[in-house]
This record gives sequence, C-alpha cells and structure tokens, in this order.
Amino acid sequence: MRITDTTDLWWKSAVVYCLDIETFYDANGDGVGDIEGLTDRIDYLADLGINCLWLMPFYPSPDRDDGYDIMDYYGVDSRLGNHGQLVELVQIAHDRGIRVIADLVVNHTSDQHPWFKASRKEKDPEKNPYRDYYIWRSDEPGDTSDQVVFPDKEDSIWEKDPKTGEYYLHHFYKHQPDLNLDYPPVVEEILRAMGFWLQLGFDGFRVDGVPFLEQKPENADPQYAVDPHKFMKSLRDFMSWRNGSAMMLGEVNMTRSDQLKFFGGEAADEMQMQFDFITMQAMYLAMAREDAQPIVTALNSRPEIHRSCQWAMFLRNHDELTLDKLTDKQRQEVFDAFGPEKDMQVYDRGLKRRLPPMLGGDPRRVKMAYSLMFALPGTPTLYYGEEIGMGEDLEAEARMAVRTPMQWSAEKNGGFSTARPSRLVQRTVPGAYGPEHINVLAQQHDPDSLMSWIRRLIQIRRSCPEVGWGKMTVLEHDGGKSVLAHRLDLDDSSVIAVHNLSADPTTVQIPTAGQFEDPHITDLLTHESPEIPDGGRLTVTLDGYGVQWLRVRQAGHLAIP
Ligand code: NOJ
Repeated sequence: MRITDTTDLWWKSAVVYCLDIETFYDANGDGVGDIEGLTDRIDYLADLGINCLWLMPFYPSPDRDDGYDIMDYYGVDSRLGNHGQLVELVQIAHDRGIRVIADLVVNHTSDQHPWFKASRKEKDPEKNPYRDYYIWRSDEPGDTSDQVVFPDKEDSIWEKDPKTGEYYLHHFYKHQPDLNLDYPPVVEEILRAMGFWLQLGFDGFRVDGVPFLEQKPENADPQYAVDPHKFMKSLRDFMSWRNGSAMMLGEVNMTRSDQLKFFGGEAADEMQMQFDFITMQAMYLAMAREDAQPIVTALNSRPEIHRSCQWAMFLRNHDELTLDKLTDKQRQEVFDAFGPEKDMQVYDRGLKRRLPPMLGGDPRRVKMAYSLMFALPGTPTLYYGEEIGMGEDLEAEARMAVRTPMQWSAEKNGGFSTARPSRLVQRTVPGAYGPEHINVLAQQHDPDSLMSWIRRLIQIRRSCPEVGWGKMTVLEHDGGKSVLAHRLDLDDSSVIAVHNLSADPTTVQIPTAGQFEDPHITDLLTHESPEIPDGGRLTVTLDGYGVQWLRVRQAGHLAIP
C-alpha cells in the first residue's frame, strides 16, 4: 500500500459519525436541533477524531418516517436552517479534516412529493408525464403481508389509490411510494439531485434501503422489474464523473453474494462501502454467548472484495438493532440476553435499545465491545451519543427510542436546547441513562470515561492502516472460547488485537512472530514494549472483558509505533 492510498481511498481509513441534525444541538432555542447548532459543535467532533460525518436526511419532509419521507430532493428542512448554513457547515467540516456525506433516499419519496401528487392525478401516461415515476398496477395484488418492512403498521406493499382505483407499490410505509427506478426520467432526476449536493461540497452518500431497489414484488407486472445493478452503476458512474473521490456507503442488509454484487464484484463499479450487518449481528450473538466463534464465522463468510471497497463496522444505528440474519433460536438467545422484555423488542426481529443498557451498563463490557468494533477489519461507524454511552427511551414509539436528543451536560434538556422541555423535538432519555448521569461535559476531561476511551480508539484506529487495509488472520490460542485474538498484516507491520468476551479474567499465549524474524512489540494502549520470550509466544493477561492492542514490527524499524 502506498501512503497516497489512504487519501485516494479515504473511506478505508476513516472513522464515520452519524447524526440527525434535529437531535444534535439546538442553537436558536426552538426545541429542534439545527444546522447552526451542528456547526457550533464541529470542533467537538474534530476533537473526538472522527473524519467522516454522515448526515441523516435534512430535506423538507412531512416527517412521518423521521425525514426518510422526502418531498424535495433539493431542499433543506426550514426547521433546521437553509442552504447557506449547510454550505457553511460543509466548509467548516472540511477545514477540520471531516468529510460530509448525505443520506440518499431514492427507493421512495413521500406521498407529499410533487411527483407523486402529479402521478396520482391521471392514469394514462400519455396524458400524465409523472404517472410512470411510480409503480402502478390495476389488478388486485393478493396477499403481500410477508413482504412488508414495518409489520406493526402495514399489511401489504400495495395501496389502492382512490383517485384512479389503481394500486401503487410501497415497500415501506404506505405514505412512501416506491419510485420507478427503471424509468429514465426518474434516474435522471436522481442523478441531478446527486450532482446538486456534490456541487455544494458533499463528499458522497449513504444509500438508503438498497435491498428494495430491486423492484420485483411477487405478482407485479414484469414490466416493472428493475435491475438494481444497472441503476447503481449509473449512480456510481455519474458520482465519480462529478467528484472522483466521492464515496457511496450502502445500507445493504443482504446475503454475502448479494453484497458482493452491490460492490460491483471484480469491477468494483457500484458502491465502495457497505455496512456489515452480518458481522454486527454475530457480535451480539458472540457477546450473548461469551463465545467468539460467531464473529469468526461471520468474518469468514465475507466474500473477497476489491481493494478499493470496504466494510463499515457498526454496533448501533438509528434503526432497530436488527437480528434478522440470525436463526430464530440465535435471535432468541440475543433477546434473552439483551432485551427480554416485550417493550424492548420491535418488528419481531430486533431491539429498540442502545448498547450500554443492553450490556447492563458494565463499563468494562461496553469498552470491550467498542474496542472490538474498532479492531475488526473495516471502517468503524458511530451513531451520535455512542461515545458517551447514551441509553434509550423505551416509552418512545419503536425506533424513536434511540433517537433522543444528544446529552451535552446535566443542565436542563441535557444542554441540547434552551426551549421549554415540552417544545423539544423529542424528550431526553429519562432515568439512569438521562443527561444528569450521562453527558459530554462530565466525560470530556475524565481520562477513565467512555468518551476518552472512544477518543483513544479513534486515535489508534486512524494510526493503524493495518485494520482498514490489512489481511486478517484469526490466531490460535489456549485462552478459551471467549477470547478472540486476531492479527492484521499490512506490508511490514502488523496489529494484534485480543478481546475477552467474558467477565472471567484469563491468560492467553499468542504467537507474535507472524512475518517477522525478530519481532518488536508495542502495546498501543500503554506504549510499553513487552519482551518476547524465545519461541515468540507472548503471554497476555486479560481482565474480565479485557482488551489488548499490540503492534508488531521487525526490531529496528524506525516507524513511530
Ligand atoms: C432505511 C432507514 O434506515 C430507515 O430509518 C427508514 O425508515 C427506511 N429506510 C425507509 O426510508
């Protein structure tokens, strides 16, 4: 690898941070977070060390799906601010070394989008140029209840429109009609919107709902079958023509072979990054069992991807913690361990919780979980508030439980807003995980806080290209099934990470030599250099939920460890 690779393919060495502007920081005191508020806190993010900011949808929206129901692809929700402020935000972020990506939600629009309003007016495409922007059928669809994404709200992916008596397709809520991505004018509209945001300085997109781009619902007229790869290649071509270093990060919760296709296979001409949903779910199963094997199995199932592509690692995001890729029995194990109550579960497949409460608030276990996420091959992605260990509001509806205001201080509204609490976009988390107990101010300068730990992990991760670029080997050891020891090799350097998933302390003998004749080791957390005994097996002592990060190079190597 050349050092220039770390900038040309910047996403492979990035640390991503996701937030929703409306819940981050409210600068004008109206109860809703805004762009000016986020701009004010850019230095906070720079201090944390992240270098890619993913903004959840900020477009005008009736807000029936928290902004994922867009009614203008060129607009900015006026509650959040305006285009001028958004451009300033991007400018300042860039100055601090932070790239900014926007959510690109093109599977569907809101039913309030002018295209849909026009589409439903007249069913004859000859008379209505917008009719084919969406997917309509005249015959009765039959039972599609097994295809809906939100079973608590919908029982069909088709909705009858009283105006024309025809049905339109919607994989998500009925107020989110699916766009017809096989219709050239729609593709043109999407490219134009992407070009707009790229021109304003955005560095790429997080692509929403990729599995649903393939519009082949059962019983649908074959004329509506969309080739999602043809579509994705058009987005990638266009994006790269406009901005050669822009990146697309896909929400592709699919099988490994489908994921490989959305990377563009050997041609690597679709999305550069995808979230690794399979490993994420395996991490919870592994933590529940205190057994590293599910993680090894998940990593081994990854297909070989092109060197320009990358997996995004995550433990939580703004949606339910989906456990859909586990078997029913495995899912039940995770439910039993981390969300046994009915009000913690959602959609029969996931949990509406954040990580620390799931782990019983044990700081050692929480720190271990994040260390593991940062050490597994890929690019770590944080969801706002994870750095301080925020919890959830179980009384909030479904996924809203994990979308509460950022907790800056122990002040009123957690320092998020000066508005009356009743005016807040959403109430702050009540109880033990509320701002009185968990907040930035209390943790920022405390060397033992979770925030200091995350900042440290970010520093280590950003100085270890081995993790994003290296070849991973799972190391054999004698420390029991709860220990994962793995090595990441890149050129003349290796990183060895050891994680104990159990509360019981253990001692592990790990081989250190790898590719080196005379290995020299640096402990990346303590900066000490343990002696390696003859035979090259190092004894690592791990506390319950203990972790170890070691860098190995040939003795005499002049690189700064
Ligand atoms: C995926 C997003 O992550 C989720 O929050 C949203 O509800 C659906 N797409 C529909 O837009």
